[in-house]
Amino acid sequence: MKAAIGGIGSYVPEKVVTNFDMEKLVDTSDEWIRTRSGISERRIVDNNTATSDLACEAAKRAIAAAGIEAKNIEAIILGTATPDMLFPSTACLVQSRLGINKVMSFDISAGCSGFLYGLGIAESFIKNGFDNILVIGAEILTKITDFTDRATCVLFGDGAGAVVIKRNRGASGIIASYFSADGSNWKLLQQPAGGSRIPASIESVKNRLHYIKMQGNEVFKLAVRAMYEAAEKTLQKAGIDGEAIDLLIPHQANIRIIEATAKRLKVPMDKVYINLDKYGNTSAASIPIALNEALEKGRIKKGDLILMVAFGAGFTWGGVLLRW
Ligand code: ACO
Repeated sequence: MKAAIGGIGSYVPEKVVTNFDMEKLVDTSDEWIRTRSGISERRIVDNNTATSDLACEAAKRAIAAAGIEAKNIEAIILGTATPDMLFPSTACLVQSRLGINKVMSFDISAGCSGFLYGLGIAESFIKNGFDNILVIGAEILTKITDFTDRATCVLFGDGAGAVVIKRNRGASGIIASYFSADGSNWKLLQQPAGGSRIPASIESVKNRLHYIKMQGNEVFKLAVRAMYEAAEKTLQKAGIDGEAIDLLIPHQANIRIIEATAKRLKVPMDKVYINLDKYGNTSAASIPIALNEALEKGRIKKGDLILMVAFGAGFTWGGVLLRW
């Protein structure tokens, strides 16, 4: 029995903010952002939109693509670092909004790896008899981004992607996966305030502690190592090498991290899907958005081997290899 993708959907807000727009906000340049990160523009929500709004749109599309109804969903797993609120979970908000039955619904806090962690959990549920599991990656990073910090504000964007994972007796589905985490470097990427360590106070707001703090160059080095490890270990479990992959869909954080990963894996860049130039880093949403776009663009055909790898706050990392 395999856990296969029965339907996929994604949603990004309409508003496009270009690197030239960012030049008006902070001391940066289109040239710096493009050459250091690969990003040209990103999508940003309006003030009234929350993560569950994006998640619901993506989920509706995934459910429709799967040819099922919301009432057929048996569990909801949602990866996000930017939930509507700390509790209840954004997954519960999606359940109520979409009229899904009273099924197990919860969020995963694994940063940019949240969607892949979700796929891993969904696969084990499928093996335990579940069917039609909604796995969502949804994020509004721009609401926790400090738009006075040029080192981070140029990197992030908003969006959501969702899949329906179904039981499949055929060849398509998840073949191998690998997940890991190392909390020892957690300080390098964090949102310090708003939890129980530094609850919201006038002081915490004044010190801008509710925004993303990242030591980019340190994170960069860890990301290159971890993305490769995630890919290598996943391929090892499947007993194949990088050359057998038809499409690599990496977390879209930085073009240089992606190129380094592909090079070490011996996967040529024409087999790597990249859309971070248009959306920036959308954290847990980046892989399902890219997967959906690759499918829509005809980059994926039946029987293809697709490797997805991610790295995110925690630090967390993981890989999922699936046959389409
Ligand atoms: N415009 C112009 N100059 C800038 C900008 C900017 N937007 N940001 C930083 N700089 C400057 C710095 O001040 C520094 O100047 P200095 O040399 O005078 O001190 C110089 O550019 C180099 O800065 P670095 O941080 O060393 O630049 P780097 O080449 O490392 O690129 C980047 C920065 C793009 C952030 C990169 O480090 C990166 O992508 N890191 C990884 C991000 C990531 O993968 N995050 C993981 C997941 S995210 C999540 O989980 C939510």
